[in-house]
Amino acid sequence: MSTIRVHDKFFEPFLSASSIIEKVKSLADQVSKDYAGKKPLFIAILNGAFMFASDLFKNFSIEAEICFIKLASYKGTKSSGRVITAIGLDMDLFGRHVVIIEDIVDTGKTLNEFLPQLVHQQPESLKIVSLLYKPEAMVYPITVDYIGFTIPNKFVIGYGLDYNGLGRNNAAIYKLVE
Ligand code: IMP
Repeated sequence: MSTIRVHDKFFEPFLSASSIIEKVKSLADQVSKDYAGKKPLFIAILNGAFMFASDLFKNFSIEAEICFIKLASYKGTKSSGRVITAIGLDMDLFGRHVVIIEDIVDTGKTLNEFLPQLVHQQPESLKIVSLLYKPEAMVYPITVDYIGFTIPNKFVIGYGLDYNGLGRNNAAIYKLVE
């Protein structure tokens, strides 16, 4: 693996494709064990989580459903501030065991604003699986239940993650050269 260029920036190898796949398999085993017989519903958040969600789902040994949503944020009224809406969330969550699939939890802002909308639908349980987690960047109180890799507060690309639209199509993960 060598340094790659995306737009105007350089990125160096950080997590190899084989270490990612190994981690995804062990996460899938853990989740399969915890959700056996519960027919969980996975909600993958696009765009970043598409590759992780696909590999994770492939490795589940239990009955499970998956749907993909996109989060759009727009400025609401003055009192409500930024509003996040989910595009494509057409499943009934009532009484379901729901697991959110994220590529990376950074400040936690996105999930902090979005989770109450899911809780409102009264799922039986609600958990989060994220491939990457940056504890140093965490600002909002989000509990990530299943974590692939805990990483330093650096910008990363690859395995679905992008820098201004590019870089998603790498099986490995690279970090910004500063
Ligand atoms: P949060 O709301 O700050 O937790 O941000 C979460 C979202 O920001 C992720 O789902 C990613 O789309 C994006 N993001 C955060 N850190 C990175 C990174 O290092 N590389 C690429 N995208 C990132």
